[in-house]
Amino acid sequence: MRVEALPAKPGKHHLHNYEEQSANFDWSEVEKEFSWAKTGKINMAHEAIDRHAESDRKNKVALYYKDQHRNETYTFYEMKRMTNRAANLLKSHSDLEKGDRIFIFMPRSPELYFLMFGALKMGLIVGPLFEAFMEGAIYDRLEDSNAKAIITTPELLPRIPKDRLPNLKTIFLVGEEGAEETDGHVDVLKHLNSCSDQFDVEWLEKEDGLVLHYTSGSTGKPKGVLHAQYAMVQQYQTGKWVLDFQEQDIYWCTADPGWVTGTAYGVFSPWLNGVTTVILGGRFSPDAWYQAIEDYGVTVWYSAPTAFRMLMGAGDALVKEYNLSTLRHVLSVGEPLNPEVVKWGAQVFDKRIHDTWWMTETGGQVICNYPSMAIKPGSMGKPIPGVQAAIVDDQGTELPANQMGNLAIKKGWPSMMRQIWNNPQKYDSYFLNDEWYVSGDSAYMDEDGYFWFQGRVDDVIMTSGERVGPFEVESKLLEHPAVAEAGVIGKPDPVRGEIIKAFVALVEGYEPSDELIEEIRQFVKKELAAHAAPREIEFKDKLPKTRSGKIMRRVLKAWELDLPTGDLSTMED
Ligand code: PRX
Repeated sequence: MRVEALPAKPGKHHLHNYEEQSANFDWSEVEKEFSWAKTGKINMAHEAIDRHAESDRKNKVALYYKDQHRNETYTFYEMKRMTNRAANLLKSHSDLEKGDRIFIFMPRSPELYFLMFGALKMGLIVGPLFEAFMEGAIYDRLEDSNAKAIITTPELLPRIPKDRLPNLKTIFLVGEEGAEETDGHVDVLKHLNSCSDQFDVEWLEKEDGLVLHYTSGSTGKPKGVLHAQYAMVQQYQTGKWVLDFQEQDIYWCTADPGWVTGTAYGVFSPWLNGVTTVILGGRFSPDAWYQAIEDYGVTVWYSAPTAFRMLMGAGDALVKEYNLSTLRHVLSVGEPLNPEVVKWGAQVFDKRIHDTWWMTETGGQVICNYPSMAIKPGSMGKPIPGVQAAIVDDQGTELPANQMGNLAIKKGWPSMMRQIWNNPQKYDSYFLNDEWYVSGDSAYMDEDGYFWFQGRVDDVIMTSGERVGPFEVESKLLEHPAVAEAGVIGKPDPVRGEIIKAFVALVEGYEPSDELIEEIRQFVKKELAAHAAPREIEFKDKLPKTRSGKIMRRVLKAWELDLPTGDLSTMED
C-alpha cells in the first residue's frame, strides 16, 4: 500500500538541508566534541556523564526512572557519583581489568545503569543480556566471550551455570534481600553506598572495546558483535540529526538495554548529547506508556513497530484519555514500519512516525527519515550524511534505482562493528570485496534516493522486533527427547511482524499431541528464552533436507505460505 508522502516538518533542525549537509560532511568535525581531540584518549562514561556533571548541565536531570515500585530522578552530577561508586565497587571486589568482559543480566533499574557505566569507567567491555534469557543462552554467550564477571539479581542467579564456566570468577548480585557473599558472590546494595564517589576513569584508545552484543544469524550460534569506543561519534551525531535532540528535550526510548537499541539509543546517544532520558521498567502496557508520556512530558519518543501496532490495537479512544501534546518527534526501529501505522500515528498523535533502519552490527542508525525531509510511508528513508548505503548484487556491483538487491553499507562508518568475538573469519564474511558490508536485508532504492525494505535474504526471524536465529531454536528443539528433526521459520503475523513456527519430526515411539506441543514449547522457553519459543509447532513425518542434511527452511516457508517451493534439485529423495 502506497500512502501519500508526509511533508517535512517546519522548525529548526540540526539536519536542515539533507542534500547540502550530506555533500559537505566530515566526521572529523564530530570528533572535536570529545576529549579524544584534546588528549588522544576517550571513555564513553566520561563523555556521556562526567563531562556534563562538570558543566552547566550538572544539575540537569539525566535519568527519570520508573517502575511499579520505584520512581527516582538522577541529575548528571548524581549519575557521576553513583557510577563512580559502582566503578569502585566493581574494582575492589574483583580482579577485573581493562578489556575484560562483564555481562549485565537483570531487569531495568537505576543500578543497572550505575553498574553499566561503572564498568565502562573501568574500561571493561560490557555484554548486555536480555532478562528473558535462560540457562542455555547465558552459557553460550559467557563461554564464547570468556566472561570474568556478571551482574545479576538473586532471582536470575539460578540461570547462570557457574560450574560450567570456570573463568566466571565474580557474580555481582543486586537484590534488596541481600546475598551470601561466598563463592565469588558480591552483594551490590550492601556495599554500593559506602564506596567512594571519586573515581579516575580508565582513559582508553578510540578503538578499545565498548559493548559486546550477541546477535543471531541464520546459521550457527549467536555471534558476539564488538563495538569500539569510537562508535560514540556516530551515536552522538545521529542523536542530533535523527532524534533531533534539543537541550530541553525529554527523551524516551522504549528498548531494553539487553538489545543494541537500548544501549546505543537508550542511554549512549541521549547522554552523549546531555539530554534527559526516561527509563520505564516493567512490561508493555498501553496505559502505563501513555501515562509516562504525559507524566514526564516526553518530547522525543523512540519505539518499535510491534509496540505501535499494539497501541493501535488498544484503540484510539485510549489515546484521548492522556495529554500527549508534549510529543514533538516520534521514531521507530527494528522491523518494517507499515504505512498504515505511519498513517495512524499522523492521525492520533498528529505526528509523523520516523522510521529508522540499522542493525546490531552497524552500531548506530544508518538509513533514516529526518524531520526536515518528506516521509514516504513504508520507506526507511535515506542514509545519514557521511555514510554511504547502496543496493548491490551478489558480486558487489551497485544496482540502479528501483532494482531489488542486497542492502549494503560502504565499509568504514564510525560505529561499524570491529570484531565478531573470537571469529575473524566470520567477521570478514560480512564484507564483499573488502568494500561493502552486506546487511542480509534485501531492499531497493527509488529514483529519489529513498530505501525500501523488502525482507531478509537469510532466514533470520524478527519477532516483536527481536532478532531470533532459527538455528539456535532448532538446536534447542533437538535437545528435547521427542524431537528427531526440527526446522524453524518466521511466519508473518499482523501484530508481531513474524511469529516463530517450528516444524518437528518426532522420534519413533512418540505420538503427536497437544500436550507434546506444549511440552516442547515450554522446553525451549525454559532453556533458551520466552521470546524464542515457537508459538506454533507442527508435526511432520519428515522434513525437507538437502542431500548434505541441511533443513530446507525455504521449503517449509513455501509450505506454510502456500507458495511455489522453487528449485528442489538439492533436496534429498
Ligand atoms: O532486518 C532488519 C531489521 O532488523 C534487523 C537488525 O536486527 P537487530 O540487529 O536486532 O537490530 C534491531 C534494531 C537496531 C535488520 O537486518 N530492521 C531493523 N530496522 C528496520 C528493520 N527492518 C525494516 N525496517 C526497519 N526500519
